[in-house]
Amino acid sequence: MKLLHIDSSVLGPHSVSRQVSAAIVDRLRQATPALDIVYRDLTQTPLAHLSGSHLAVAQGAPAPAELAPDLAASAAALDEFLAADVVVIGAPMYNFTIPSQLKAWIDRVLVAGKTFSYGANGPQGLAGGKRVIVAISRGGYYGADTPLAVLEHLETYLRGVFGFMGIQNPEFVIADGIQVGPEHREKAIAGALQAATSLRAA
Ligand SMILES: Cc1cc2nc3c(=O)[nH]c(=O)nc-3n(C[C@H](O)[C@H](O)[C@H](O)COP(=O)(O)O)c2cc1C
Repeated sequence: MKLLHIDSSVLGPHSVSRQVSAAIVDRLRQATPALDIVYRDLTQTPLAHLSGSHLAVAQGAPAPAELAPDLAASAAALDEFLAADVVVIGAPMYNFTIPSQLKAWIDRVLVAGKTFSYGANGPQGLAGGKRVIVAISRGGYYGADTPLAVLEHLETYLRGVFGFMGIQNPEFVIADGIQVGPEHREKAIAGALQAATSLRAA
């Protein structure tokens, strides 16, 4: 069984989402020792934003030589995702949504004909067999009854993206209120780490 572990926080060792995503992977590794794990750090090895020439090649135009590294990076990201049975993602909230590094990755894996297609009945997800677990960290609180709920475009966005690919039940391990104060931060991290230990085996 293959597990793809992705981190996207720019805060390195100070990152909460990295701490929680690592705890999730540890839990799954202990429960399923033979797990084949691939790690991708989207800040150490960032994917470029999509370019016009990349899209032209995707439409069948000849590939210019200078685009070869970009095309290879794109293919590697997509192949890793397609090969994974389980995907664990560290996703901090930056300005109400995912970091741009994670968006650049989504742009490489949300690909027509690979992870979704358009048919007679509209869009159809092609990646439905995967399990996705997202470690979310947010500075504030975004529950349905909070004033900021309307600005929650992280969890809702990722639910939409993975649902579009046919992954209807992504799991979320959430640390909220990280910037509210030290007590909130400690409680949120402890709660998320505890939740990680209760995840079902891979
Ligand atoms: C650039 C930046 C933007 C942020 N924007 C938000 C935000 O819009 N809403 C929020 O609740 N917290 C925001 N925060 C706080 C982070 O969500 C919080 O610190 C979280 O723990 C970040 O995850 P990380 O520690 O894994 O990087 C922001 C932090 C940074 C560095």
